[in-house]
This record gives sequence, C-alpha cells and structure tokens, in this order.
Amino acid sequence: MAVNFDVNNIRKDFPSLHQSIYGKPLVYLDNAATSQKPKVVIGAISEYYSTINSNVHRGVHYLSQKATDAFEDARNHICQYLNARYSHEIIITKGATDAINLVANSFGKKFLKKGDEVIISALEHHANIVPWQMICIEKQAKLRIIPVNDSGELRLAELESMMNERTRIISVTHISNSLGVILPVKEIIKMAHNKGIPVMIDGAQGIVHKKVDVKDLDCDFYCFSSHKFYGPMGVGILYGKEEILNEIPPYQTGGEMIKTVTFEKTTFNDLPFKFETGTPNVADMIGFDKALHYIESIGMENIEAYEKELFNYASERLVTIPGITVYGDKCERIGVISFNLKGIHPYDAGTIIDKLGIALRTGNHCAQPVMDRFNIPGTLRASFAFYNTKGEADVLMGAIHKVQEMLG
Ligand code: ALA
Repeated sequence: MAVNFDVNNIRKDFPSLHQSIYGKPLVYLDNAATSQKPKVVIGAISEYYSTINSNVHRGVHYLSQKATDAFEDARNHICQYLNARYSHEIIITKGATDAINLVANSFGKKFLKKGDEVIISALEHHANIVPWQMICIEKQAKLRIIPVNDSGELRLAELESMMNERTRIISVTHISNSLGVILPVKEIIKMAHNKGIPVMIDGAQGIVHKKVDVKDLDCDFYCFSSHKFYGPMGVGILYGKEEILNEIPPYQTGGEMIKTVTFEKTTFNDLPFKFETGTPNVADMIGFDKALHYIESIGMENIEAYEKELFNYASERLVTIPGITVYGDKCERIGVISFNLKGIHPYDAGTIIDKLGIALRTGNHCAQPVMDRFNIPGTLRASFAFYNTKGEADVLMGAIHKVQEMLG
C-alpha cells in the first residue's frame, strides 16, 4: 500500500460520510449506484452559482467568457485524463445512459440496415441493452449476446464465432455493475478490430476503479457518468474517435449543435458541439473537473491498490459466512460484491441491514438478464469506494450474521 494513502484523512474530505443513520454511524456501501462527493466538488458548484453563473459560448461579456473557459477547461482536462487525442473527441452528455443512447441512435441511423447485427454481453446494465434493442427493432437488425459461463465469465470463444460480415458494432461494459466482474475489454477490442468492427465500452463502473487510457485500449467509444466518479449527478462523458464521430449524424438538435439555420436548411456545428444541444450543465461540469483534480491528487494507482486490498479483505471474509452465495467470485472482480443468503429474500435482508446504518443495494441492479442467468430474483450488493474501510467491511459481516440470526 502506498505510504501516502491514508483512508482516515481521505474520509475527512467527504462530509456526507460523517452522519448517523437510525442512530448508527453510516456505512455507505452503495457506491456503484452513486459515490459521495468531496468538499471541493460541493464547494465548486456553490462557487459557480455564487460568482460566475452565466451561459457558455453565447456571450462576449465577462461572466460568459469565464463560464465558457471553465467549461472548456473541464473538457480539456478530461481529454488529458483519458489520453484522448483531441478535446473535440470529448462529448459532454447527461450521463452514461445518455451517451449510449446517443451512439446507438446516431451510429444505428447511419450504419444499421435490415439483417445487420449488434453484439453486447450477457453482463450488461439495462442502459447498454435497451438503446441497442430499440434501434435494432427500428432497423430490423439483430441483437446478439456474448454468453457467460456459470461463474459469470464471458465466453470469448463464442464471441469469435459470433462476429461476421453483418456485425456492425460491439458494445460491452468494462466492469459489471451487478457482479463487479472485469471484462477483458482490450482483448475484445483487438478481436473486433481484426474483423474491422468498432467497439463501444460502457465505462460507468470501469472509470471508477481503473485508470483508463483510450489510446491504449483503442476503443472507438468510451462513456461514463460523473456521479459515480465522485463528481455531481447530471453530467457524463462520451469519448469517440474523431473519424467515427465525424461520420455519424447529430443525435438531438437545437442550441450549440447548430451552425446556420434558414427555414429551408440547417447546417451543423463541428465536433464536439455537433452532439451537444441546449444549455449544457456548466456547474456540474466544473464540479466534475474538481472531482478529477481531487482523484489525481490522490493518484489513481494508489486508489486501485487500496481498493484491491479492501476488496480482497471483504471478499475473503464474506465467503466464509455459512449459507452465502457470492456471484462471480471465480472471476477477476473489483468494487462490487453481489451475494445472497440461503433461505432469505434479499429485500428482507436489505431491510434489516438498512436499520443497522448500512447502505447497500438490493434487487436486480438494472441488470435483469444477469439475474435471469443465475436464476435469482436479485442480490444484495455491497459496493466499495476508496473511502471505505476494513472496519466497515467488518460491520457488514456483523450485520449479515444478525440477519441470519433473525431470519435464518
Ligand atoms: N446503475 C446504477 C447501479 O448499478 C444505478 O446501481
């Protein structure tokens, strides 16, 4: 563990962690749903509305310039962080879901025809299923699914045989939100590119737990939300290679994406604005910029190392609980531990665990097909961030024993 990583000091940066729930200290283990925010992010949003608040790209006045500079600085920062080639490859969206909808619709409109195929995996969040399902219905294309084995591992050999001359795009998650399984995305991208097929990565969980380098991955699209990555809700990022972004048509229309309008004809703005409509979420992008600076000040390599240690600590202990089933535990995982307790419905267990001050998620985690694959209604999901502690993992263990005493 890096000597400069001190979880107790880090926790001081997150005001929301220091509260009691039902008289018990909060143990926040629902980070895959959304992370807590450091003070610098909360402060930046308040400061923006207190001092800068102005629309971007629309005025020559001082405040508008200031807002525009801060907004574009955020874009440049994300470009650097992802190691993208150009800042115009960074499209600002409402979130990861919005980004996938953008690509499914725009790419689908341009490239999908009757009989074509789109490939996703069996581990996807609904947000990386339904947009593709909808466009496939519209275009009479076929949605194909890379299966997983009983351990939750992707069957890559099947992907090899699924790809054919009708495959137009592959869209897979980087890390499963429901099981924490890490997908071999680099290998998938290589396999797909060997056949000339572009790949989109849903990085909603991936960006949080891994240092992402889009040049190294060589993905065609990569998207994520700010709010799971310690930034505010309501903004997200779509990275796309310049060539492909130039080829696909605008998704929504109006506002920044316009160059000229007459009643006869409209011409569209250049990248990145071609995909950005209406007034953007300036305050939250500035907040997200601060979140990224904060992450960088700790160091993603330190975060990764600490999270791995914490995850192993929690996993090793949880599997020793009698009657527990942990899903995907034979796979390489991070962040998420998804489990069930024999004879106890996850909602009943979740209700008791909540009363003990622990926030975790119960249900299908917006990934019903994953639950169907394992033939279960849902799971209990503990999801960890770098501000969680081994002590909190112990509190969860104690709570599970209590559930078993009461309901087992
Ligand atoms: N997609 C989020 C989750 O996994 C909300 O909880």
